[in-house]
Amino acid sequence: MDLLIVGSGFFGLTIAERAAAAGRKVTVIDRRHHIGGNAYSANEPETGIEVHQYGAHLFHTSNPTVWEYVNRFTDFTSYVHRVYTTHKGVVFPLPINLGTINQFFQAAYTPDQAKALVQELAGEFDAKDAANLEEKGIALIGRPLYEAFIRDYTAKQWQTDPKDLPAEVISRLPVRYTYDNRYFNDTWEGLPVDGYTAWLERMADHPNIEVKLSTDYFDESQPLNKKDTVGQVPVVYTGPVDRYFDYAEGELSWRTLDFEQEVLPIGDFQGTSVMNYADADVPYTRIHEFKHFHPERADRYPTDKTVVVREYSRFATRADEPYYPVNTADDRTGLLAYRELAKGERDVHFGGRLGTYQYLDMHMAIGSALSMWNNQLA
Ligand code: FAD
Ligand code: NA
Repeated sequence: MDLLIVGSGFFGLTIAERAAAAGRKVTVIDRRHHIGGNAYSANEPETGIEVHQYGAHLFHTSNPTVWEYVNRFTDFTSYVHRVYTTHKGVVFPLPINLGTINQFFQAAYTPDQAKALVQELAGEFDAKDAANLEEKGIALIGRPLYEAFIRDYTAKQWQTDPKDLPAEVISRLPVRYTYDNRYFNDTWEGLPVDGYTAWLERMADHPNIEVKLSTDYFDESQPLNKKDTVGQVPVVYTGPVDRYFDYAEGELSWRTLDFEQEVLPIGDFQGTSVMNYADADVPYTRIHEFKHFHPERADRYPTDKTVVVREYSRFATRADEPYYPVNTADDRTGLLAYRELAKGERDVHFGGRLGTYQYLDMHMAIGSALSMWNNQLA
């Protein structure tokens, strides 16, 4: 073995694929029973509908290198992501755009009129003096839109009143003064035609790559553990950085998600893939209806059944799956300390969203792995 990779998510698999193509013998271990990290998906058995097991994953990128690379393993559908939100029993388009504003104010503002209105409403606070997230939100888009679309949703995401959240949690709240409600601005977007798992498996499908699942790097009863490999073979580690150092500099904090999945005996529950719930009286943040991610599979998917997943957000304990970095001041201090420790680890390369404590979209994880391969490992 020339390289040991801990974690079979997009970061680890990209390194594995590049190394194997360059003639290196690679072993990838993952503590889960399946490949692919958080992008893993599986068909719901009763309906055959593909469900992303760790939350909905939409691929999008403007990076030509990444786009060329991912197209070696999968084709993409022409799916274009759009999100709606329910507020006081009425559905509005997101991100906040001219359609949202005109529906909310029951008006027919032109782009310039809407811009002038939002600027006037936003005058209540100056964004640079905002003492907390609430003041920042009002400073950016004004109180009415903030209270309708941001306040309670943010409170549900963080289990915290936005008045008690730091202003830095939001840097901007984009408002579009057109009716364009495409969620992403990237050059390319789409979903893998044969699903995420087929894509992830093709990346690992090479005689130089061995994948060992249900194998935890910190389990010393299996041979590919930390104690017996560091210094013996180059390691790419994509698990949580604080766990690697046995939490010596404290625990980095994360939010996690709980998913409640249900098969319903109806053809269509909500008419779209993602419906947010903006208000405090609904405990979940959003509902995904997975058949809508693949309208091109209409002939294969049942017409009398559908799969919906309600998503709840909360702070993670050590036993939970870490999803989004909280990134408090303590976390930032801890991260710097871990980065120093990481420099001292001989031939261990920390990467991916857990190894660097950073939210990374898939295209960012893949792009970052391609850079690590080219600059440090090749
Ligand atoms: P991961 O996929 O997390 O892979 C890390 C792997 O390491 C895991 O499989 C884990 O089991 C393994 N591991 C950890 N510890 C150990 C250990 N001790 N021993 C062995 N293995 C270990 N990106 C998008 O582009 N679009 C989206 O719409 C999108 N939606 C998302 C929604 C949610 C809820 C989340 C959480 C993420 C989303 N992402 C999305 C981001 C996407 O999931 C990441 O870009 C991708 O997972 C990064 O890959 P990774 O390899 O860095 O990490
Ligand atoms: Na302002």
